[in-house]
Amino acid sequence: MKICCIGAGYVGGPTMAMIAKQCPDIPVTVVDINQARIDAWNSDKLPVFEPGLDEVVKEARGRNLFFSTEVDEAIREADMIFMSVNTPTKTYGVGAGRAADLKYVELCARRIAEVAESDKIVVEKSTLPVRTAESIRRILAGSGKNLNFQVISNPEFLAEGTAVEDLTAPDRVLIGGEESAEGDKAVQALVDVYAHWVPRERILTTNVWSSELSKLTANAFLAQRISSINAISALCEVTGANVDEVAHAIGRDSRIGPKFLRSSVGFGGSCFQKDILNLVYLCEHFGLPEVAKYWEQVVAMNEHQKRRFVDRMVSTLFNTVSGKKIAILGFAFKKDTNDTRESPAISVCRDLLEEQANLAVYDPKVEPATIRHDLALAEGDERVDICTDPYVAIRGAHAVAILTEWDSFKALDWERIYREMLKPAFVFDGRNILNLSDLRKIGFEAYGIGKGG
Ligand code: NAD
Ligand code: UGA
Repeated sequence: MKICCIGAGYVGGPTMAMIAKQCPDIPVTVVDINQARIDAWNSDKLPVFEPGLDEVVKEARGRNLFFSTEVDEAIREADMIFMSVNTPTKTYGVGAGRAADLKYVELCARRIAEVAESDKIVVEKSTLPVRTAESIRRILAGSGKNLNFQVISNPEFLAEGTAVEDLTAPDRVLIGGEESAEGDKAVQALVDVYAHWVPRERILTTNVWSSELSKLTANAFLAQRISSINAISALCEVTGANVDEVAHAIGRDSRIGPKFLRSSVGFGGSCFQKDILNLVYLCEHFGLPEVAKYWEQVVAMNEHQKRRFVDRMVSTLFNTVSGKKIAILGFAFKKDTNDTRESPAISVCRDLLEEQANLAVYDPKVEPATIRHDLALAEGDERVDICTDPYVAIRGAHAVAILTEWDSFKALDWERIYREMLKPAFVFDGRNILNLSDLRKIGFEAYGIGKGG
């Protein structure tokens, strides 16, 4: 058995590194058209920051894990091909702003159809709309070659920042296949790969459509919990209830459970919004407008939460931030990652710039060039200072906004920060990681999410 994975991104890289680590008998080649990314995977500075990932890659790379740009060669040699390419929201044409753009997936399928010389099991690792396997099958069949292509679905549930943990001990692995003898054989081949380290009872097998839909549904449910608690946070702020206490109290109900109830400035990341919009589009496509509207509200509430945070800052800062220095702590969409895709920090910073604020941004892992790119800053734009030291970012600021829950922010010397800020000194904790009463004792005017001022 030889594995190839097309797409060396946040999913392809770590998942294949884990398979290679756990299955030393299986050669795994990860290919990408992005030469810089492949070079980085082959270097000491991996393109993805994830706790524990360096060790996993080092153990397997060069033994049975390879990163390459030789896409055709890897396809030709593999028995099983994972497609782990990006599936962003379409920005053009029919379904723009909602539907998933499947052009990269289709390109992969066409490539496989063109260069394959032997039977292949094609695994959908990317998150895809229900019934994509059908289209892939038709494209592969169009090759006209007398080969057997099986398309199975194996969505990925890892979360960034905990990818290695999640891959080492997944809650479940989901594999969906065609309901036929050939389909069962393909599913079993992938079960055998995961069974190297995942207990058998955690490997779920379903039909392809259930597997594809379960991925979108899982993300929709997770994001829905955040929007639900964020909706309640708005009510907390005007009633004197504390959203952390409410979340704790409801989370003790075993039917609700305690996880994913952290109120915040809003959820970010490359997938929640994209996948819900994709679900919304599918519902509309299949003539279910009420169902579409229900899920769309999860995204609308998230937009509202981000906007509400900025509005609260501006109104608290005497209704103007024009010309004021605001320190932004955290730019990644969550802690322990260098990923900023759809980070709430981007929209908060853009809204503050719109209000003519000056920003000093500090993030422990995000590259300055990424921040500049995300904020669409022109060369020499002086409204945003990107700092490598949090104390420099905060010195002389009117206010601090915490936008990522990095642990290191809790350990900062807040007494020193207070001394070095303009007074009154404001803190807006968009992640509820600081103890507001301790900050108030120091002298700060401190605000959290879902907590009265
Ligand atoms: P990514 O953008 O980090 O990586 C995708 C890679 O695919 C890129 O490096 C790109 O160059 C490469 N690529 C695109 N077309 C190609 C082609 N034709 N040939 C070779 N390489 C090609 O994306 P990602 O975050 O890894 O996500 C990939 C998929 O996994 C998406 O569908 C996403 O929804 C899903 N997913 C992501 C996460 C996550 O945490 N990021 C988790 C679960 C599922
Ligand atoms: C999420 C899912 O958790 C994964 O299972 C899924 O595989 C992945 O999307 C995907 O399909 O891409 P990820 O986006 O990496 O993973 O990270 P999460 O931990 O889910 O956080 C997403 C966002 O929600 C972050 O901005 C985070 O700060 C925020 N969040 C999370 C909250 O605001 N409150 C919470 O209680 C939890």
